Amino acid sequence: MKPIRIFLSAIMMVSILSVSVFAAQTQDRQIRLLLQRMTLEEKIGQLTQYSYGMDLTGPAGEPIKPEEEIRKGRIGSLLNATGAEKTRELQTIAVEESRLGIPLLFGLDVIHGYRTIFPIPLGEAASWDLSAIEQSARIAAIEASAAGVNWTFAPMVDIARDPRWGRIMEGAGEDPYLGAEVARARVRGFQGNDLGRSDTILACAKHFAAYGAAQAGRDYSTVDISRRTLHEIYLPPFKAAAEAGAGTFMNAFNELNGIPCTGNRYLVREVLKKRWGFDGFVVSDWDSIKEMIVHGFAEDGRHAAELAMHAGCDMDMMSAAYIAHMADLVRQGKVPPAQIDEAVTRILSVKKRVGLFKDPYQYCSPERERELLLNDKHQAIARDVARKSIVLLKNENGTLPLDRDLKRIALIGPLADNQTDPLGSWSAKGEDKDIITLRRGIMDAVSSNTEVLFARGCDIDGEGTQDMAEAVRVACKADVIIAALGESKNMSGEAHCRGDIGLPGRQLELLQKLQATGKPVVLVLMNGRPLTLVWPSQNIPAILETWLLGTQTGPAIADVLFGKVNPSGKLPVTFPYALGQVPIFYNHKMTGRPGVKGQAYRSTYADIPVEPLYPFGFGLSYTQFSYSPIRLNRAKVAYDEIANVSTTVTNTGSRQGAEVVQLYIRDLKASVTRPVKELKGFSKIDLKPGESRKVTFALTAEDLAFYNQTMTKVTEPGKFEVFVGGNSRDVLKAEFTLLSK
Ligand code: GLC
Repeated sequence: MKPIRIFLSAIMMVSILSVSVFAAQTQDRQIRLLLQRMTLEEKIGQLTQYSYGMDLTGPAGEPIKPEEEIRKGRIGSLLNATGAEKTRELQTIAVEESRLGIPLLFGLDVIHGYRTIFPIPLGEAASWDLSAIEQSARIAAIEASAAGVNWTFAPMVDIARDPRWGRIMEGAGEDPYLGAEVARARVRGFQGNDLGRSDTILACAKHFAAYGAAQAGRDYSTVDISRRTLHEIYLPPFKAAAEAGAGTFMNAFNELNGIPCTGNRYLVREVLKKRWGFDGFVVSDWDSIKEMIVHGFAEDGRHAAELAMHAGCDMDMMSAAYIAHMADLVRQGKVPPAQIDEAVTRILSVKKRVGLFKDPYQYCSPERERELLLNDKHQAIARDVARKSIVLLKNENGTLPLDRDLKRIALIGPLADNQTDPLGSWSAKGEDKDIITLRRGIMDAVSSNTEVLFARGCDIDGEGTQDMAEAVRVACKADVIIAALGESKNMSGEAHCRGDIGLPGRQLELLQKLQATGKPVVLVLMNGRPLTLVWPSQNIPAILETWLLGTQTGPAIADVLFGKVNPSGKLPVTFPYALGQVPIFYNHKMTGRPGVKGQAYRSTYADIPVEPLYPFGFGLSYTQFSYSPIRLNRAKVAYDEIANVSTTVTNTGSRQGAEVVQLYIRDLKASVTRPVKELKGFSKIDLKPGESRKVTFALTAEDLAFYNQTMTKVTEPGKFEVFVGGNSRDVLKAEFTLLSK
């Protein structure tokens, strides 16, 4: 068959299937009748989203008068409009003053909390506690929905393997399995089990897809990866979000292998809508439709609108390309009316799922807004989630936990009494004044006999050292020094990448001066990405990775510092030894000459090790855990049988503690090379001193599957290694053979 006919038949196939999903939706009589009453302009109005007011989260577009546009039926959704009163006012215009009275969706980036701000998502992922992560999203939904917001542009589920990329803070790190589990938990938290309830909000899996694979770790940069890497590494969290019922997806800004995601028919119509059967709608990212002109993929705004609609982008965020050009494109036969009807039907179906046809004002409750935002219950949960997110990277000579009766503590550093940065990026309606700082948290935690001294020491960034001498003088008076160092909230997040991932400014110099006093130093890191920490790892006895923990920063860190809580976090992303190793991730390939230090002609560096400083899944505890040798239910596993992998974990220390037991596999030989390890399971267990628990993982043939040379998902017979441990490096190993079918 000639290529062109293959192409046409593929398009027909894709159109047929996405139409069948659409057909199912038009079975809904209410939506079908409404669609029949809509003019083409009103349909295109539903495909249009604007940012309200000057609350911009992207480059400013052409100014509009939203109220007038709503009255004319030229807007289907607003983003950045919040508050029960304001959203009620705008919804009233849509419902009572436009011809058809179709309610608006109100979207906002509720990424890690609405007003009660939780740890940045990368920090929450470090908890490996799916119920805590779900609860965090649940509370974000309760608060946001009380303030008129019924759609969040979250979860961000982009896999990130490059710590230079600022948006690594916004996702769940480098691993597809953990990323998928976290994606499910977050969608469940936002949407609950009934999206029509007034305390649930529509989720949005973003940014579709492979946004985190940006070359050079620079935001919006080119993505060029193999289709296998796309499907095996970057898509699993999106598939998980779709399976969890996420009502919307968002296009990514980047191109993928030469085609911008917003105009990428393969991604949206073939994979998302056809193969995965996604029945929600897809919104572009901010102005990403028109940015296809800049990409060099679209001729002009009109052509960009045509390409985006053909590719399955249902709603236009902020480029105004659809509202400007779509009617002409339809009238000139460039865009089939069926595509418009499909997009409108998807959007109306989601609005109905959200409950807006039943009661368009159910989210606009000033009473609930007053009662729920930042209440004590939410704060207590935020503190608990924050504690669980903290990772203990080093604890020599039992430096931690500290005694709360210490005579004098010196708290030094630009993050120590910081009333701004701990909220992290994308902090929605969180307010600086709500932050309980580390200084406050420590002062509330210590006994009345303890004096807490404070000095800033230096700025987060820049060359200023004017306060350094004073800080050292203060430190010399103390029994213990706590150094609170790291990044500002604007050093990570969108368009905030770093070409150097060390401690910014003169902070390392400050730390070295504090260490030189000879006093014990505890390093508390507050940052939005992995940092390079070689000197601290070699010279500082105790290091806590606390990310950016949000409103409850101080109490959560103090709970861990003084042992009220035993740290249980594990790294969701590799911490490199040096930037030169990047990209570095645990699930790498073996190669033909694996890096073995000291051996010639090997995949090594002359000047640095190949191993990371702290590996994926790493985190210590104030207690210790032992693992019994792995037990397998059978050494030879038939194709349709389950391989049970067990170990008994014992708390051999003197304190209660939680351990994240991790299961990895390796396919030793296959028709396509496989990674040296792949995470395939984890279980966070809580053990009292001396307590033991058997942990069993069940592996099926599906768990062992990969995409072969023809990109067909297969499981091949042969030898597999399994690994169990408390991180991806220090593991026990066993082997089984999968038999042929
Ligand atoms: C931004 C971000 C996206 C966000 C959207 C709306 O540019 O890329 O994640 O949801 O615009 O604020």
